[in-house]
Amino acid sequence: MTNAPPPLRPAGEADIPVMAALHAAAFPPAERWGGTALTAMLRLQGGFGLLAGESGFVLARAVAGEAEILTLAVHPGTRRQGLGARLLEAAVAEAARRGAAALFLEVSERNGPARALYARAGATEVGRRRRYYADGTDALVLRIGPEN
Ligand SMILES: CC(C)(COP(=O)(O)OP(=O)(O)OC[C@H]1O[C@@H](n2cnc3c(N)ncnc32)[C@H](O)[C@@H]1OP(=O)(O)O)[C@@H](O)C(=O)NCCC(=O)NCCS
Repeated sequence: MTNAPPPLRPAGEADIPVMAALHAAAFPPAERWGGTALTAMLRLQGGFGLLAGESGFVLARAVAGEAEILTLAVHPGTRRQGLGARLLEAAVAEAARRGAAALFLEVSERNGPARALYARAGATEVGRRRRYYADGTDALVLRIGPEN
C-alpha cells in the first residue's frame, strides 16, 4: 500500500490543535510551541500557515517586502519523503506572491537535517546569533532569495 502525499492547504486557527500536536512530535520539549504560541504567530501581521494533512506544516510571515519562516515541522513518521522541501517551497512562493523578495530564517547550527534542507533550497548564511537557543547553541541566520 502506498500513501499519497498529503496536499498542502492554507492553515487557519481551526488547525491549531493539529499543528500543536505536530510541533510536539517534531521538536524536543524545550522548543515546543503550544496552541497559544502558534495562534499568536498565525495572528502576526502578514502571518500565514500551510498544512499538509497531519504530516507537517510551516508558519511564515511576509511584511514590507521581506518574509521569515517562523517554524517548519514534519512528523518523524513522514520524514525524508520530500515534504519539508515542499512546505518550504510553498512558503517561499506564497511569500513572493505577497511581495516578499527575500525570505529569512533561523536554524540551530546543530540542526543537521534542517541545514541540509535549507542548503538544498539555495539558502545562504547571512548572520549568526550567539547562544540564541535555550541549550546555548548559536542560531545561523539564513536567506533564501535572489542575490542582493
Ligand atoms: C527539517 C525537517 C523539516 C525536514 O523535513 P523532511 O520532510 O524530512 O525533509 P525532506 O524529505 O523534504 O528533505 C529534503 C532534503 O533535505 C535534506 N535532509 C532532510 N533531512 C535530512 C537528514 N536527516 N539528514 C541529511 N539530510 C537531510 C536532504 O538533502 C533531503 O533530500 P533527500 O531526502 O533527497 O536526500 C524535519 O526533519 C523536521 O521536522 N525536523 C524537526 C523540526 C525542525 O528542525 N524544523 C526546522 C527548524 S529551523
